[in-house]
Amino acid sequence: MNSVLVLNGPNLNLLGTRQPEVYGSTTLAMVEQSCAAHGAALGLDVLCLQSNHEGALIDAIHQAKGVHQGIILNAGAYTHTSVALMDAIASVELPLVEVHLSNIHAREPFRHKSYIAPVALGQICGFGAHGYILALEALRKHFDEGKAK
Ligand code: DQA
Repeated sequence: MNSVLVLNGPNLNLLGTRQPEVYGSTTLAMVEQSCAAHGAALGLDVLCLQSNHEGALIDAIHQAKGVHQGIILNAGAYTHTSVALMDAIASVELPLVEVHLSNIHAREPFRHKSYIAPVALGQICGFGAHGYILALEALRKHFDEGKAK
């Protein structure tokens, strides 16, 4: 069974109460439960982690190698700043889907730049918490295509 790490970055522990007009009213616990349930339906084991610390996120990405076959990452504001996260993702060579609840391209210009996008399989943004489910489906398809080769 393929295993997927769902990694959430800074301030995403506050989902549900944090600017609900931007990020919705779904809590992180609800997002994580729904990832586990949808993952199971897709035949994917799901492990969820959240940290507000850049180094902890980098450690989690390093530790995913050999344990998980794919990563779903919402790096929060580190998306727009972190060369270190980009380097960590490039180093482990695991397929990664970048997720954002909001449409970062329709917001302030500083959110348009992503250091994650160049090292990601693809980016999903603007669909709220459903983006994580879309990301699981994208990874499922990626794994299936890999097996077919
Ligand atoms: C976010 C978008 C980022 O710009 C912001 O800093 C976040 C959340 C999103 O999910 O829409 O913390 O990643």
